[in-house]
Amino acid sequence: MLDMTKRALSKKRHYIPGLARFYFRPTFDWTPSQAEKMYNRKNSQFLDSEIDVVYYRDCIGGMKELPDESVDTIIADPPFGLDFSGKESLYNRDPFLVVEGYQEVSEYDKFTLEWVSQLSRIMKTESTAYIFSGWTNLESVLMAIRLSGLTVKNHLIWKYQFGVFTKKKFVTSHYHIVMVVKNEEDYFFNKVDHYPLDVFEYPRKYRPGRKKNGTVLPVEVVKRCIDFSSKPGDLVLDPFMGNGTTAITAKGNFRHFLGFEINENMQEIISESINAIMPGVDYTKYLSRCPSPEDLKEDYPRAYKEYKRRSGYLPD
Ligand SMILES: C[S@@+](CC[C@H](N)C(=O)[O-])C[C@H]1O[C@@H](n2cnc3c(N)ncnc32)[C@H](O)[C@@H]1O
Repeated sequence: MLDMTKRALSKKRHYIPGLARFYFRPTFDWTPSQAEKMYNRKNSQFLDSEIDVVYYRDCIGGMKELPDESVDTIIADPPFGLDFSGKESLYNRDPFLVVEGYQEVSEYDKFTLEWVSQLSRIMKTESTAYIFSGWTNLESVLMAIRLSGLTVKNHLIWKYQFGVFTKKKFVTSHYHIVMVVKNEEDYFFNKVDHYPLDVFEYPRKYRPGRKKNGTVLPVEVVKRCIDFSSKPGDLVLDPFMGNGTTAITAKGNFRHFLGFEINENMQEIISESINAIMPGVDYTKYLSRCPSPEDLKEDYPRAYKEYKRRSGYLPD
């Protein structure tokens, strides 16, 4: 007993804040050429012509036609059920640049249960789904997840800088992202950051002068989900493509995509954006994205010194 206390104390004395960051390595990593090879492998459940495609139709019918256990990762950003058209003046955007046809949802509970209940069958054992939601209908989303037998692993927040002006309540400046898995014991998670917080802070991007769907996610938010929950060559499904953010992000990072969007008016914009991206253009080895010891030096000077000492560095 005494020995154990001594050991715990000595461990505590040796704890150096930040030191673990200097030794962090992503769980899995691939060079760009390895990632490209994985991307070029044939998918055993789909013909080449069936994936890397956005289908302009209702996602519920579309998902019903997908084979069992055929999707690696899901990014789903459904309409939030707020009677939204994207043209509302309070969103401070030019209504002429917002494409007609954004489809909102009336019976939110029913709709949510219908599409969420498709996920479990089409997800592989190791798959993860990221479901975006505003706070007003979050309850429907959580209920549908529970009824579909999926497990919530994280409740993430995307914090953005923009919020609609309010007179008598706080300004909403976050989205919920519910991270759900099919199999708690066996889901794929590539820890590419030493200390990945559950709050993502990325500004909303303004794309002045460009035609768009009512809402658009930043590529960085989608990329973070894809990085942690898929491998190069995997298939990423987005049932609500909107502007095609998931398709663009997947293709630029050596992942395949498949998506649905009910608004046919988005077809030209989505196709143009997808065609403008080269496969893997944004892909780099995960380790190269981690901060180097020199980057960490300023925030963790003591850990830096210890790291250098352990690496055999002798000061002048
Ligand atoms: C919040 S937006 C998605 C925005 C997207 N994440 C992006 O970054 O561009 C939701 C989209 O779902 C589409 N939608 C609504 N109901 C649908 C359905 N049943 N099937 C497919 N798409 C649908 C809407 O037209 C809208 O474009």
